[in-house]
Amino acid sequence: MKVCVVGTGYVGLTTSVSLAFLGHDTTCIDLDNQKIDTLRGGHCPIYEPHLEALLEQASSHLTFTTEYAVGVPDADVVFIAVQTPQLDNGNPDLQYLRSAAESVAQHLRGDFTVVVNKSTVPIGSGNWVDAILREAYERHHGHRPDGRFAVASNPEFLREGTALADTLYPDRIVIGSDNQKSLDLLNQLYRPILNQSFTPPTVLPRPAGMSAVPLVSTDLASAELIKYAANAFLALKISYINEIAAIAGKVGADVREVARGTGLDARIGPRFLNPGIGWGGSCFGKDTAALIATASEYHLPTPIVTAARDVNHRQRTKVVDRLLDELHIIKGRKVGILGLAFKPDTDDLRDSPAIDIANLLLERGARITLHDPVAANRFRREQPTLAEHLADRVEDVFDDADAIVVATEWSHYRDLDWAKFAPTMRSPLVLDGRHCLDADRLTEIGYRYLTMTAPAIPPRSQT
Ligand code: UGA
Repeated sequence: MKVCVVGTGYVGLTTSVSLAFLGHDTTCIDLDNQKIDTLRGGHCPIYEPHLEALLEQASSHLTFTTEYAVGVPDADVVFIAVQTPQLDNGNPDLQYLRSAAESVAQHLRGDFTVVVNKSTVPIGSGNWVDAILREAYERHHGHRPDGRFAVASNPEFLREGTALADTLYPDRIVIGSDNQKSLDLLNQLYRPILNQSFTPPTVLPRPAGMSAVPLVSTDLASAELIKYAANAFLALKISYINEIAAIAGKVGADVREVARGTGLDARIGPRFLNPGIGWGGSCFGKDTAALIATASEYHLPTPIVTAARDVNHRQRTKVVDRLLDELHIIKGRKVGILGLAFKPDTDDLRDSPAIDIANLLLERGARITLHDPVAANRFRREQPTLAEHLADRVEDVFDDADAIVVATEWSHYRDLDWAKFAPTMRSPLVLDGRHCLDADRLTEIGYRYLTMTAPAIPPRSQT
C-alpha cells in the first residue's frame, strides 16, 4: 500500500520504518530540513535501538521529504504523528496537529484516503481533525470532499528503547473509526503484523510462541480513550508499587519480593511493578494530565489518576529526603547522579526524574555532578544551565563524592567497576533509585547501599 507519515519523531519514524520494512511504500514528511537531510543520509535523528539498521534495510520503500505534495496525493493511508506537547492547563497543544491536517487536506487527490491520528490526542480530536480536513479541503479544492477521506485513530503503544519490537510484535493493534472502509484499509495495512506473516529482521527475531496479534477494531472515541486508559493504568501501577514500597520499608519487607508475589497473580501481571524514583518521559505525565483535563470538562473527578501523579511527584523529593536521612546535611555535599535519560536505551530527557532531582539538590546547596552514557549531548542542548555540572568521565562523578544516585538503570552502570571507585569517594554511599544494582556485591566492596524505602545496608566490613 502507499503510506504517508507526517512527523519523524519516535512514533512517526518507527511507524514509517516498520511499515516500509513490511513492504509498504512509505513517504515520511517533516518540515525540519535538518532532520530530513539526516534521514536521507541513512541516519536517525533520535537514538532508538535497531532503528538505523532497519532504516537501511527498508530504504528501497522509504522516501524522506519536506513536501506534502510528494507523499499525500496518492497515499492510501496518511498518518499524522506530530508532537502534541503539554500546555499549562494540562491539555495537549494541538497547533501542530491542526497545521498538519490543513496541509494534508490541501494535497489529498486520491479516491479515498484514511487520515490516521497517530499522535496521542484528547478524546474527540478525531472529530475535530475531520472538521479541519473538511474545511481545508473545501477551501482549497472548491468543492466538498464527498467521502474522499475518513479519519481514524490508531493509538501507539510503543515504548522508547523497544519501539521497533513493540511495533512489529505488539500485544494488540487498536484501530478506531466511524467509517467501515477506513477500518478495512487499516486491517489490510497491518495484516502482516496481525498474522505475523513477515520474515523477522535479523536484529529483532520474533519472540518465541508469538502468533496472531489481537485486533481491536472499534469506534473513534473508544480507540482514543483506550490509549489514555492504558497509559494511565500503567502509570498508576508504578505509583501503586511505589506506595507499597514505602509501607514495605517501614515494616521491614522486601518490596521486590512483594512485587513479584503480587505480580504473579495473572489478574495483576508482573510488569510495570518496578519500584523506584517513578516514571518520567513524554507520555505518562502528559497523558494523565490530559485525562484529568478531559474528565474535568465533564465535571468528573479523577481521584485515582490524580493520586498516581502525586505519588510519582513525591518520589523525586523523596530522593533528597533519603540522602538527608543518611548524610544529615546536604549543603556543600557532593552528589553524583548517574543517568539523565528518563529510562535506559533512549536519549529522551522529557520529564526525566533526574532533572528534578538535580534541581532539588542544587536548591538545597549540594554540589552535583551528572553523567549519562548516551543522553549527555542532548542534555547540553536542552538543559544548558544544568549541563555545567556534566562530567565527561564516570570516574569524575565518584571522585570525592558523598553519595551517588542511580537515576537511570543503564546496563553501563550495572557493569561499572564499582570496587575501583569506592576508595575515590568521600563516603561510599549509593542510592539505587532503580533497584538495578547488586546490593550484596556493593556492600561487600565497601558501599553503604540505600534504596528509596528500605533502611541503608551498611558495608559488610561494618556488620
Ligand atoms: C509509555 C508506554 O509504556 C507505551 O505503551 C506508550 O506507547 C508510550 O508511553 C506512549 O504513550 O507513547 P514510554 O514512556 O516510552 O512508554 O516508557 P515506559 O517504558 O512505559 O517507561 C515510562 C517510565 O516509567 C520510565 O521513566 C520508567 O523508568 C518508569 N517505570 C516503568 C517504572 O518506574 N517502573 C516500572 O515498572 C516501569
